[in-house]
This record gives sequence, structure tokens and C-alpha cells, in this order.
Amino acid sequence: MRLRKKAWAKPLIDDYTDRIVITKLDFLTNPIRDVFKNNNKLVLEIGTGKGDFICGLASRNPNVNFIGIEQVETVLAIALKKVIDQELRNIKLIRVNANEMLNMFDTKEIDVIRLNFSDPWPKSRHEDRRLTSPEFLKMYHNILHDDGCLIFKTDNREFFDYSVEMLKENGWVLEDVNYNYPLTENNEDVPTEYEKKFRNMGMPIHYLKAVKGDKNGA
Ligand SMILES: C[S@@+](CC[C@H](N)C(=O)[O-])C[C@H]1O[C@@H](n2cnc3c(N)ncnc32)[C@H](O)[C@@H]1O
Repeated sequence: MRLRKKAWAKPLIDDYTDRIVITKLDFLTNPIRDVFKNNNKLVLEIGTGKGDFICGLASRNPNVNFIGIEQVETVLAIALKKVIDQELRNIKLIRVNANEMLNMFDTKEIDVIRLNFSDPWPKSRHEDRRLTSPEFLKMYHNILHDDGCLIFKTDNREFFDYSVEMLKENGWVLEDVNYNYPLTENNEDVPTEYEKKFRNMGMPIHYLKAVKGDKNGA
């Protein structure tokens, strides 16, 4: 369901731009580690939604940096409110479409990429919008550290099967594939908004963890 645009969203984002919300310009002038002013591990969540996941993990892991990418202004603003309220200093949010990512991050700069309940785009003519399509996997391969990993959770079995197939076809190694992933709430994982909704409906959650097969480049 589409969220109605909220009048307060843009002013809030503007107010926190350069502090919590960063823009593409920041990437032109600084490596992302300079934005955080430390060398901590970097986790990138693509399609952050309303921020429960990123805030939950960031509060449990104060020595890890988190970047959330979300393309919808009002949704990003809701996540931003949570970051402000919880006074989390290890999160930066970016309002951008993920397909612009390659120009933003340096090669092998990211330690973990998290995809949570990404839009499945079931029609084949929309395949290139799926966040596990070959084009996106190529991008992830480029920005992910050799020892890094990609973690994906979804309720959608078809999208999950497609993603497993694409990862294998594109040379990734699947370290974990779980078709009935248990509710996990610890330093490594917390439930997202969509996850809570689907678990309440009794639906199984699918989970995978993949690492780069060819670590020297695609
Ligand atoms: C189905 S929701 C899931 C939200 C959240 N991750 C969760 O699990 O509750 C997908 C989110 O990803 C965002 N999104 C989808 N495609 C994106 C893209 N290409 N770039 C940035 N954000 C995207 C959508 O705007 C939406 O907020």
C-alpha cells in the first residue's frame, strides 16, 4: 500500500541533511568512511523502509556504521524520526534510487549488504528493477569487500527462488539458505516492519546469505 505524502517530511529531511541524511554530493568529495569519521565496519541496507531494522541493529552495534538507502521521501522521513528519537549516531540515510549506487561507493567499501523484503517486481518486463537482478548483483560485487556478504530476507518464495538462481548464475556462493527462517532478535538480525506483518499472518520467511565467489572481480 502506498503511503500518503506527508507535508512535514521534506522540511525534516532538509533540517537533518549533512547530519543524518547525506546526499550524493557527499560521495563526490569524501569516501563514506570520512562521513562517519571512523573506520568501523560498514553495513548498507537497500530499501530501508520505515527504519525498524536499521535502528534495531544500529542500537545493538554502536561500533558498526549503517547506511540506509530509501527512495521514497515520506518513508525515509519516518525512518529519520526514529534515528533522531533514538539518538543513533552510527546511521546515515540517503534518499536515492539504488540504481545510482555504483557512482556513490568506492570499490570494496561495504562490508555487508542487507536486502529486506525488497519489492518482488513479478512481471518479467520489470526484472531489472528487482534488487537481486544480474545488474544489481554486479554492482554489489563491485562495492562489497572480498570478505563481505549479502543477506536477503523475504516472504516471497518466487522472488527468493529467482534470487538464489541469479546469485548462483553470477558466481556467488550461498553460505546459508533457509526457507523457514526463525524469528531472530540479536546483534546480527532484528525483524523489519514487513517481517513482523508477514510473521503475524503465519507466513514463512526465507533467508539467504551469499558471499562473492570470484573475489577478484566479476
Ligand atoms: C516492501 S518495502 C520493505 C521495507 C523494509 N525493508 C521492511 O522490510 O519492512 C521495500 C522498500 O524499499 C524501497 N525501495 C524499493 N526499491 C528501491 C530502490 N531501487 N532504491 C531505493 N529504495 C527502494 C521502497 O520504497 C520501500 O520502502
